[in-house]
Amino acid sequence: MSRSRRKWDHIQHALTTGQERVTGLDDIVFIHQSLPDTGISQISLDTKIGELTVSSPIFINAMTGGGGERTMRINRDLAVAAKEFGMIMAVGSQMSALKNADEEKTYTIVRKENPKGIIIGNLGSEATVEEAKRAVDMIEANMLQIHLNVIQELTMPEGERDFTGALKRIESIVKGIGLPVIVKEVGFGMNQTVVKSLASIGVKAVDVGGFGGTNFAKIENERRQRMLSFFNDWGIPTAAALAEAKNSGTSIDIISSGGIQTSLDIAKSIALGANLVGIAGYFLKILVKEGLEGLFEEMKLLHEELALIMTAVGAKTISDLQNAPLVISGKTHHWLVERNIDTKQYNQRFIKKTSSH
Ligand code: FNR
Repeated sequence: MSRSRRKWDHIQHALTTGQERVTGLDDIVFIHQSLPDTGISQISLDTKIGELTVSSPIFINAMTGGGGERTMRINRDLAVAAKEFGMIMAVGSQMSALKNADEEKTYTIVRKENPKGIIIGNLGSEATVEEAKRAVDMIEANMLQIHLNVIQELTMPEGERDFTGALKRIESIVKGIGLPVIVKEVGFGMNQTVVKSLASIGVKAVDVGGFGGTNFAKIENERRQRMLSFFNDWGIPTAAALAEAKNSGTSIDIISSGGIQTSLDIAKSIALGANLVGIAGYFLKILVKEGLEGLFEEMKLLHEELALIMTAVGAKTISDLQNAPLVISGKTHHWLVERNIDTKQYNQRFIKKTSSH
């Protein structure tokens, strides 16, 4: 099957397979605060990623490009929405345009629509430094995402079977491109050791890409004769992956993604340590079903509701929200205890009154 056809198949299957809704974020509860001492007008949603400050902690995660006209239209619409809300946007894997220059326009449309926006390029860990540079130049990217998708490749009939040397290749890219590199999972989560390894080679941020949302094992299984159904439930749920990253003993920036759909998912992700929260499948579904107008409305509401939640917990800033006390229960609690991650750190902390923005 051609790469271009596969891109469109992914979109179709992502829409029909749907989201798992088992991110573990339901195990996280904010401790209610009756005296929050905040007002909605004091809330700032500004956040930082590397050296960059952005006005929204929500971003559009990598999805598409490389599948001709149809993927170009999706990228155009997503770019228009990103511009409207000052949101960062990542494009889908640019390998198809590196292999076939005809596909470049399906990515460059994003920069055309949003000349001043923060745009993230995307490639897999098989990429060379040369390819990474070309991908960055293609869209004048501000950062580059490298995706890790072992389970997706193994489930894909025509997928990669050899993953040796990925860390070394990523290190060469980090050293060679002179831009911040983000390493992301695609819905199977990351563990502490992986985060530590990535931090040690100079990766700026990890996007934990946890289990619980779009499920690429299921999507690829749809394209197989004999299904590898044992991969359908494989992965570290988003809440546990965020705790793994935060407790990795590094100061690497943390990005949450994997099954994020609501303002409460976003707020809980930030409280678990994320600076940024990525949404892919949910935005795609709204765009396809309700058009750009529907997507605008949803994005507006997500931002407004996040400000309401921050007011309720007494968090004026994103860094306040990262210190909001919360209780962890259920499977996520079990995971953390088994992994020797202190669960009390989350419920004994508090937002310092002196903090302001
Ligand atoms: C993706 N995702 C993805 N990720 C990546 O790094 N490169 C890519 O090319 C793609 N392509 C892609 C296509 C489609 C149709 C979807 C829905 C997703 C993965 C995406 O960025 C994200 O990591 C996962 O989808 C999990 O997040 P959600 O969808 O649960 O919010």
